[in-house]
Amino acid sequence: MYIGLDIGTSSVKAILLNEDQSLISSATAELSVQRPHPGWSEQDPDSWWTACQTVLDALKTQAPKEMAAVRGIGLSGHMHGATLLDDAGRPLRPCILWNDGRSGKQCAELQAAEPKFLTLGGNLVMPGFTAPKLQWVRENEPDIFARTAMVLLPKDYVRFKLTGEYAGDMSDSAGTLWMDVAKRDWSDELLAATGLTRKHMPRLVEGSESSGILKPGLCARWGVDGAPVVAGGGGDNAASACGVGAVDPGSAFVSLGTSGVLFVTNDRFSPNVEGAVHAFCHAVPDTWHQMGVILSATDSLNWLAGTLKKSPAELTGLLDKVSGPSAVSFLPYLGGERTPHNDVDIRAGFMGISHETDDAELTHAVLDGVAFALKDCLQALSVAGTKIDRVLAVGGGSRSQLWLEIIASLLNVTVDVPVDGDFGASLGAARLGHAAALGTTEGIFSRPRLKASIDPVPALTETYAEAYGQWRKLYPALKHAGF
Ligand code: XUL
Repeated sequence: MYIGLDIGTSSVKAILLNEDQSLISSATAELSVQRPHPGWSEQDPDSWWTACQTVLDALKTQAPKEMAAVRGIGLSGHMHGATLLDDAGRPLRPCILWNDGRSGKQCAELQAAEPKFLTLGGNLVMPGFTAPKLQWVRENEPDIFARTAMVLLPKDYVRFKLTGEYAGDMSDSAGTLWMDVAKRDWSDELLAATGLTRKHMPRLVEGSESSGILKPGLCARWGVDGAPVVAGGGGDNAASACGVGAVDPGSAFVSLGTSGVLFVTNDRFSPNVEGAVHAFCHAVPDTWHQMGVILSATDSLNWLAGTLKKSPAELTGLLDKVSGPSAVSFLPYLGGERTPHNDVDIRAGFMGISHETDDAELTHAVLDGVAFALKDCLQALSVAGTKIDRVLAVGGGSRSQLWLEIIASLLNVTVDVPVDGDFGASLGAARLGHAAALGTTEGIFSRPRLKASIDPVPALTETYAEAYGQWRKLYPALKHAGF
């Protein structure tokens, strides 16, 4: 038996798999995000641990016999969050999350001062990443910076609670911008640029390797008989890739979660800082990946749903089929954007609203707007020489067939829809736990059974290509107007 634990932005999810990787049980506990200032986004690290205990308690209640036989646990989590601990392992402040935009100034300064962020780090210095957040703390909360003994990513704080070990996996750690990504090691130079050294960093392990053993007291609490290993795990995107078997070079997926991601696996470190492409290690050894990331995917639909006082499913239920692009345009920049603009200050916009515009049209515009932003990611990856003609769909938004139809036609790719699209990151985490327990990655990362494959519709591809050309003109206009 294997457990996958995914620390998502809005919830923690645990799944329990048997030796065939079939689902035995699952549980979810909600999390909240605090936004104490415009553009800030924070979470209490101990709320992750409370939620993890809740979901693991629930697995024990639902499947006590199977919990006794757990041999491996894998972790995944939202990436880049800066979790600062004192020398006793206590959080010094709320975690600064992946979608926090406070460090724009620090990004510009770090990038100018240390060009190796672009070469060794392989990425633009963007406010979402961890290094500029520490630089912000250094400048704005010097007392906290001085007391910082360890910097962990969110899932690695949970690992510390589970095992007592300070460890991080390659895929998530690459998103700090402190790694020499090609060498799969911390970079002393990049750490020094933010006033840190290796002693502030956890030990690095591969995602499919053991990082420690579940503490005896926790084994007793959850009725686990042996001493299960806790695998390195992965950042949520690399873990999702493991969940859908996207571990071979060229395999790709699109994730419609709070953020939106277009992910492709590479056999080597393939940076392309133009167009704000992310280039990180994968969660399996000797493998890397590229991705385009947009900050508000289902977050955009959730925002509209909240504003119109309907649920997201009610809104998508207003649309029955895709007959072409919406007459209204939406730019999904509620909290700035990463790929391709790397613009923390830009904000969202609706354009083309008329007397006739109703809830259905606004919903259509939001689905289109997110899909256009994913097309921007595809373009940025293709500039890097990466060609994608097939993607698997994961994340909560992939429950909308209509949204996937829009994406298939607009991106001109076939979208494969797995039977359990929802379990992406937690399934990948459980598989990494399985690999660590067995000591091999052989035969672990199979591709899922599909419930559908959605092909592009040529007529729609044509009309959407035209609409994309129009939509591309809106970001410069918005920017020019000072939004
Ligand atoms: C990736 C990113 C997000 C988070 C949250 O760079 O910031 O996808 O991992 O899911």
